[in-house]
Amino acid sequence: MPVCDLDKRAPHGKKVMGLDVVVWWDKNENAWKVFDDMCPHRLAPLSEGRIDQWGRLQCVYHGWCFSGSGDCKFIPQAPPDGPLVHTFKKACVAVYPSTVQNGIVWFWPNTDPQYKDILTKKKPPYIPEVDDPSFTFQFLNRDIPYGYEILIENIMDPAHLPYAHYGIMSTPQPR
Ligand code: FES
Repeated sequence: MPVCDLDKRAPHGKKVMGLDVVVWWDKNENAWKVFDDMCPHRLAPLSEGRIDQWGRLQCVYHGWCFSGSGDCKFIPQAPPDGPLVHTFKKACVAVYPSTVQNGIVWFWPNTDPQYKDILTKKKPPYIPEVDDPSFTFQFLNRDIPYGYEILIENIMDPAHLPYAHYGIMSTPQPR
């Protein structure tokens, strides 16, 4: 997701490779975070929630609040003199390792703790021209409901351009 399309004030729900994730800005860690888009309490989508005044991701259903590390920090309904239920492992959200490179939020599509530090070893593909001010570029982000292989097949097939794109983009004249 290009950072320029993300609003730091709100969580964003995305589906990537079949994974429902929520992307949100953690002002405490100064970083974009990518979580499973599912509250551990009653499975409400966290992307429907809000960022609270302390910069935590707050679930819209019962107000549980999560830090950027996925830890539950607050359960409004828990009695203050009761057990610290928010510290239970089951109250945590699954976090995907994520980073920003070339102005894009990238994430490793596995929340297994064994991959927690994967981005120190494996980086997303780097495109130097994107960060080179002597080049111009434009981000275009669009959800298209078909798979990567269909897209590549389409791009490899320039013969369709004058016909399928007639009048909607600069194409060769149809014959
Ligand atoms: S479903 Fe999220 S707090 Fe209840």
